Amino acid sequence: MKKNIVLFGFMGTGKSSVGGILAGKFGMELFEMDDEIERRESSSINDIFEKKGEAYFRKCERRLVKELSDREGLVISTGGGVVLDGGNISDLGRNGVLICLDASPRSILERTGEECYRPLLLTPDPSKKIEELLSFRKPFYDLIPHHVRTDGLSVDEVAGRVLGILERSGWRRDVRETGDVDG
Ligand code: S3P
Repeated sequence: MKKNIVLFGFMGTGKSSVGGILAGKFGMELFEMDDEIERRESSSINDIFEKKGEAYFRKCERRLVKELSDREGLVISTGGGVVLDGGNISDLGRNGVLICLDASPRSILERTGEECYRPLLLTPDPSKKIEELLSFRKPFYDLIPHHVRTDGLSVDEVAGRVLGILERSGWRRDVRETGDVDG
């Protein structure tokens, strides 16, 4: 069995970029949960939030997680709020190594500042919003077993630290057994 690699973390912590590196390295599929929800809903995340509301979006996330927990060989980049439903963490943990990318409010602001596709940060004071959301969500992110602090690190460096976690958790051994990865 090849376990999924599941990346959690607040918006702007680098889940997609780091996930892309890991997927490339191991020849796995990068599965972007947000992209899949947009595809299924034929609507952007912004539009889903605006027209159907956050609760509806969370239901879409929940439904998708239930499906993903039966799949394998994926690098899954989750949306930053997926941790809010504890069922998501336990479902993804059934067949995945769970890793959370952490960053300070300042790094998050720097990384998300110019972007406008995150409905929760489309407020007059994104800095305050980031701090509020981060402190509310901290206990949820703390439920993830492995963490990588990303402040001041390049995406390659973060990917390197994730690789270290995977090795220590025996994940590479799982992969070698399937013969999918060099060395
Ligand atoms: C959200 C994070 C976003 C996206 C949606 C809600 C959140 O994903 O799922 O805008 O609640 O933190 P990213 O973390 O990939 O930006």
